[in-house]
Amino acid sequence: MDSIIVYGSQYGTARRYAEKFAEMTGFPAVGYRERPDLSGYRRVILFGGLYAGGVLGLKEAAREVGGQAELLIATVGLADVTDPRNIANIRKAARRQLPAAAAGRVRFFHLRGGIDYQKLSFKHRTMMTLLYHKAKNLPPEKQDAEVRAMIETFGKKVDFVDFQALSPLLEAIRETEGD
Ligand SMILES: Cc1cc2nc3c(=O)[nH]c(=O)nc-3n(C[C@H](O)[C@H](O)[C@H](O)COP(=O)(O)O)c2cc1C
Repeated sequence: MDSIIVYGSQYGTARRYAEKFAEMTGFPAVGYRERPDLSGYRRVILFGGLYAGGVLGLKEAAREVGGQAELLIATVGLADVTDPRNIANIRKAARRQLPAAAAGRVRFFHLRGGIDYQKLSFKHRTMMTLLYHKAKNLPPEKQDAEVRAMIETFGKKVDFVDFQALSPLLEAIRETEGD
């Protein structure tokens, strides 16, 4: 078995990226709860929504990926992914979800998702409301990209999904295919 796309998506943005990437590559895409045993795959590409720093589905997928396999992780979050501090934070948190053996073999990619407050679960809406009230009182110099994104989008419906942003991931696949 060769390559598989796995996604961890609560509200559909990571799934949309995963399904588009499946179309672009011909690899199958499955939700992480429905994943087959991943140990037989040479390459696993995980698209995961960011939830309080963690990447949805990463812990479950990473522990199954074989010792020789490639693991490509595409995070999907609200905050600006051109901000180097945000990227560093995302990677630091994601590495905590990886078994030590996998940590040296991963490649990261970062995508922007979206949010629709009307569709949030009660638990998620409550969490975001608490975070928002805490964040909005921070002085601007203490607001990082994540905090700014949360303040700017609070209560709204926003969609930053951009399939062009999949190009570096496609390029990475092409490099290892050797064509
Ligand atoms: C409870 C909660 C926590 C979140 N935490 C983060 C976060 O730490 N960083 C971030 O960039 N986005 C965060 N987001 C935004 C989601 O990552 C964003 O909505 C993403 O597109 C969700 O992916 P999904 O639609 O595939 O579930 C959070 C959203 C919710 C509801």
